[in-house]
Amino acid sequence: MTLEALQSETLAAIAAADSLDALEAVRISALGKQGSISALLKTLGQMSPEERQVQGPIINGLREAVTADLAARKAEMESAALDAKLATERLDMTLPAPERPMGSIHPVSQVMDELAEIFADLGFAVAEGPEIEDDWHNFTALNIPETHPARAMHDTFYFPNQMAVDGKAMLLRTHTSPVQIRTMMNQKPPIRIIAPGRVYRSDSDATHTPMFHQIEGLVIDKGIHLGHLKWTLETFLKAFFERNDVVLRLRPSYFPFTEPSVEVDVGYSLVNGKRVIGGNEGWMEVLGSGMVHPRVIANCGLDPQEYQGFAFGTGVDRLAMLKYGMDDLRAFFDGDLRWLKHYGFSALDVPTLSAGVGA
Ligand code: PHE
Repeated sequence: MTLEALQSETLAAIAAADSLDALEAVRISALGKQGSISALLKTLGQMSPEERQVQGPIINGLREAVTADLAARKAEMESAALDAKLATERLDMTLPAPERPMGSIHPVSQVMDELAEIFADLGFAVAEGPEIEDDWHNFTALNIPETHPARAMHDTFYFPNQMAVDGKAMLLRTHTSPVQIRTMMNQKPPIRIIAPGRVYRSDSDATHTPMFHQIEGLVIDKGIHLGHLKWTLETFLKAFFERNDVVLRLRPSYFPFTEPSVEVDVGYSLVNGKRVIGGNEGWMEVLGSGMVHPRVIANCGLDPQEYQGFAFGTGVDRLAMLKYGMDDLRAFFDGDLRWLKHYGFSALDVPTLSAGVGA
């Protein structure tokens, strides 16, 4: 057989191979130990130098051509095999998972989102502060001096003395009111913020857990009075409970950081023996509030002659219980999937004022 015939026959066999195994068989028959091209290469040794000079490049050229063609065909077949494999493994990521293993939104998160939505509509921004606070922000600046009995009332978790920062005793904040201080010190009036977050008190029974959630509200501007407070709370509670017959009762109260201080009750009716918000058959306390004490405003470097404001604080967990009907606060933090399935909210159901803040 001529070299040309051998070359075209081998290349034709490579092109015709329809599997990697078939291709390997062609390689062995041409370039293997007993292969046709290997046999030709062996003949070079017996040639005269002149003959070898002519035949060497031809035979080696043949070997190179076949080697290159084998590699190209192999790469082509491997990439076709990969494409076929990928095609069978194709996943449409835009489809929902068949089992829909979706989690749910915890009622605390849901209520915080509802409150943020309601207050955003009234022009309030969301502010945050640290859960590990110092004594000054949590108490002193809020007009609760060291000897004040309110400090004992708060059942504070203090950090050990050796964990003091810059000589300041550290504690877990007992309320969200220190965010009032941080906000007034960091931004200029007019101020309109809500501050939701975790707070801590050493207390535990069916309606108290050592960690719970509060939301603080603060408005500071010129000429703010109790009427603004009442309107804001009424608007917020009607939007939150999604009924127009929400009735508020304002009772004089005492907080060191507000003057006057007002405790707010909402009226409820009894429907089949269950308390339902609305009407005035009975009263439930829902929040503490008042006009920000001039001393607190001054503690933050503002002139209380120029600026006034109101503040309020309420328990997020308690609001959730009232709106969605849970009766044991401890279950909120048990992480029991059955409870979450029952009381949780769809992750896709974002509260909006237009669609109703509730789920
Ligand atoms: N910080 C108070 C509490 O935890 C609530 C409150 C906030 C009262 C703001 C008045 C004004 O009980």
